[in-house]
Amino acid sequence: MADAQARGRPVIQVRDLEKRYRDGTYAVRGVSFDVHRGEIFGLLGPNGAGKTTTMHVLGTLHRATGGAARILGHDVAHQPHAIRRRIGFAMQDVGIDDLATAEEMLVFHARLHGIRGREARRRAAELLDTFDLTKHRKRRVTAFSGGMQRRLDLAVSLIHDPDVLFLDEPTTGLDPHSREDLWATLRRLRDERGLTVLMSTHYMDEADELCDRIAIIQDGRIAAIDTPRHLKRNVGADTIQVELGAHPDDWQKTVLREGFRGAPVRLRDGTLELRVQDGGESLLPALRVVDRAGLSVRSTRVLSPTLNDAFLKYTGKRLEEDEP
Ligand SMILES: Nc1ncnc2c1ncn2[C@@H]1O[C@H](COP(=O)(O)OP(=O)(O)OP(=O)(O)O)[C@@H](O)[C@H]1O
Ligand SMILES: [Mg+2]
Repeated sequence: MADAQARGRPVIQVRDLEKRYRDGTYAVRGVSFDVHRGEIFGLLGPNGAGKTTTMHVLGTLHRATGGAARILGHDVAHQPHAIRRRIGFAMQDVGIDDLATAEEMLVFHARLHGIRGREARRRAAELLDTFDLTKHRKRRVTAFSGGMQRRLDLAVSLIHDPDVLFLDEPTTGLDPHSREDLWATLRRLRDERGLTVLMSTHYMDEADELCDRIAIIQDGRIAAIDTPRHLKRNVGADTIQVELGAHPDDWQKTVLREGFRGAPVRLRDGTLELRVQDGGESLLPALRVVDRAGLSVRSTRVLSPTLNDAFLKYTGKRLEEDEP
C-alpha cells in the first residue's frame, strides 16, 4: 500500500501479544495492531478489557507472555531501556508528587532524564505554557484541581520530548471544558511535533472525536480496527426522516414512489423514512421530490450510525459509559 509506505515503518508494531498474569488471569489474548507516526490511536473498551495491561506491556512495565511488540523499532522484551528513553507515560490513577510546586516537579523529572540546569528550566517553562499552567507554576500541586493535576501529569510525561506518548484514560474525572482543552492540546502536539499517541478510553465521544484510529477491544481481543468514520459507516446506511405537513394522497404517493425510484422508503405516521448511503448528500434531492409532489415539510432529520452502534455491532454489547 503506497500510503503505508509513505508513512514509513510503524512507530508501534504489535503482533499476537498475550499477557497472562501469575494468578492465571488471561488479560490480553492475542492482540495485533500498528500505529504510525503522528497518529492518535485509541484502545476503546469496557472495564477489564485489557487496555491498561496492553499499554503496560508496550511501555515495558510488564512482560508479555506471548507474541511480540516493537516501539520505534526496539523490541519491548529485549530493549526496554532504549524504549523508555523515547516514550512518555501518563498512567491511570497515578498520584503526583505531593510536596513540590508544579515548576519544581517538572525540573525534577527533567533531571531524572538527565536534562540539567537551564535546559531543564526552559523545557519546564515551555510545558507549563503548553498546558496553561504558567500562572500556577509556584503553587504546590496538592492545591491543584483534578484537571490541573491531569494537565501537569501530561506535562511531566512530555518533559524529555518523547516520540511516543502512552495515555491511560487521560480525561477520566475531567469536566467537559477541561476534556476539550486536553483534546486540543493533544491534537496540537500531534500536528506540530508529529507526536504519536496510544491512549485508552471508554468514552465513545472521546474515541470518536480525538482518535485517528480506534481498536475496539473486549475480553483481551480486538474486535475491529479502523477510523471512527469507517467503523460507523460499516454499521450501515443513514436514515433521512422528513416529517410532512399533510398526509399524501394517492397521486402524491405515486410521485414520491417514482421520485425515489425504488429506493428503500416508507411512510409512517406522516413521516417519510429514506435509507441512503450519505444522508448529507441525499437530503436536498429528497426534499426536491417531496416538493414536486406538492407536499410541505414540517421538519427533517438525518440519522447516522454512532460509534455506540459500531461497538454493538462488533462486540454484541453496548459499552456502559460512566458520566464524563
Ligand atoms: N496485576 C494483575 N494481576 C492479575 N490480574 C490483573 C492484573 N491487572 C489486571 N488484571 C486483570 O486483567 C484484566 C484486564 O485488566 P486491565 O486493567 O488491563 O483492563 P482495562 O481495560 O484497563 O480496564 P479499565 O477500563 O477498568 O481500566 C482484568 O480481568 C483484570 O482484573
Ligand atoms: Mg485500565
